[in-house]
Amino acid sequence: MAIDHHHSTPIYGVSGLRVLPDEGGTRNWDTIIVDESVKNQLLSHAVLTLAHQKELSKLPGSMQRLVILAGPPGTGKTTLATGLAEKVSTLLAEKGDTALVEVNPHSLPSEMLGESQRNVARLLDNSLPELSLRYPHVVVVIDEVESFAVRRSSASFEANPIDVHRASDAVLEGMDRLMKRCPNVLVVTTTNFPQAIDEAFTSRADLVISVAIPTTEAAAEIVRLSLFELSQIWSELTDLAEDESLHRSIAEQCNGWDGRQLRRLPLKVLASNIELASNPQLLTKEDIFRAIKSF
Ligand SMILES: Nc1ncnc2c1ncn2[C@@H]1O[C@H](COP(=O)(O)OP(=O)(O)OP(=O)(O)O)[C@@H](O)[C@H]1O
Ligand SMILES: [Mg+2]
Repeated sequence: MAIDHHHSTPIYGVSGLRVLPDEGGTRNWDTIIVDESVKNQLLSHAVLTLAHQKELSKLPGSMQRLVILAGPPGTGKTTLATGLAEKVSTLLAEKGDTALVEVNPHSLPSEMLGESQRNVARLLDNSLPELSLRYPHVVVVIDEVESFAVRRSSASFEANPIDVHRASDAVLEGMDRLMKRCPNVLVVTTTNFPQAIDEAFTSRADLVISVAIPTTEAAAEIVRLSLFELSQIWSELTDLAEDESLHRSIAEQCNGWDGRQLRRLPLKVLASNIELASNPQLLTKEDIFRAIKSF
C-alpha cells in the first residue's frame, strides 16, 4: 500500500505513487522499442484526454479515458504504461503535475468476492477520487487487469457465479462513476489475457492496443541498447555495442524472443560462465552465439 507523503496515510489499493515529471525523466518511455505508431497513439490519446478534460467532459458521448494494452508476457506493456505517464507529464508540465498511480490488482483478492467488491469500491470511489483532487493530471496503471475485471462467463475459480457477477458489476459501475467524477484521470490497463477480460470492460475502452513480440529490427535495437548499457560500465565492450551487423544477426538467431528475454541476453551470457562472470569486459561475439545455442 502506498504512503501519501502529503498526508502520511496509506492509500487503499495503491502500490505506488510518483509525482511527475521527476528526476527519472522519461526513462521507461525511451527504453521500450516498439512500432512508432504504438507510442504515437498512446501519447495522442493521453494528451487529448488530459489536456482538454474540461472541454471534453461537456460532450455528451464523452470519452471513458480507458486504455487497454494487450500482448504476450515480456513485451513491455507495464513499462510502456508507466512510461506514458512520464512522457505526458513532460508535455503537460506547464499545466501542472501528473501523478502516476500504480494499482496492485492483487490487493483486491478475487477469492473473497464479497470482500473484493467492497475493496474495488474503496479504490474507485475513495482512493482514486481523492488523488484526483490533489493532482491536475492522474494516470492510473492497473496491471494484469484480467484479475480485476474478470469475465463473467469464464470465471474459473470455484466461486458462486452470482458473486462473480456482483464483483464484475462493482468494477464496471465503479469505473463509470470514476470516469464521470474525475475528468483528469486516465486509466491504463495491461493484460496478457485479453480473452479473460469482461466484454463490458473492453467495450468501455477508447483505445485497445496490441503489443507484439519485437520484429527483427526492433529486436536488433533492443540488443544494441542492452550492449550499449554494458559498454557504459565496461568500455572494452564498445565495439560490440556499435556493431550493427552483430545486433542484426543476434536478432535473427533469437527469432520469437520477447523483449524481456532480448534485454537480458547479454547479462545471461555473462552469468553463464565463471570466466565471463568474473571478467565481463572479455565478452566476445562468439560467447554470445554459443550461449544463444545453449539456451
Ligand atoms: N519492446 C521492448 N523494448 C525494450 N525493452 C523491452 C521491450 N519489451 C520488454 N522490454 C524489457 O523487458 C522487461 C519487462 O517488460 P515489462 O514488464 O514492461 O513487460 P510486460 O509486457 O508488462 O510483461 P508481463 O506481461 O509479464 O507483465 C523490462 O525491463 C523492459 O524494459
Ligand atoms: Mg506487466
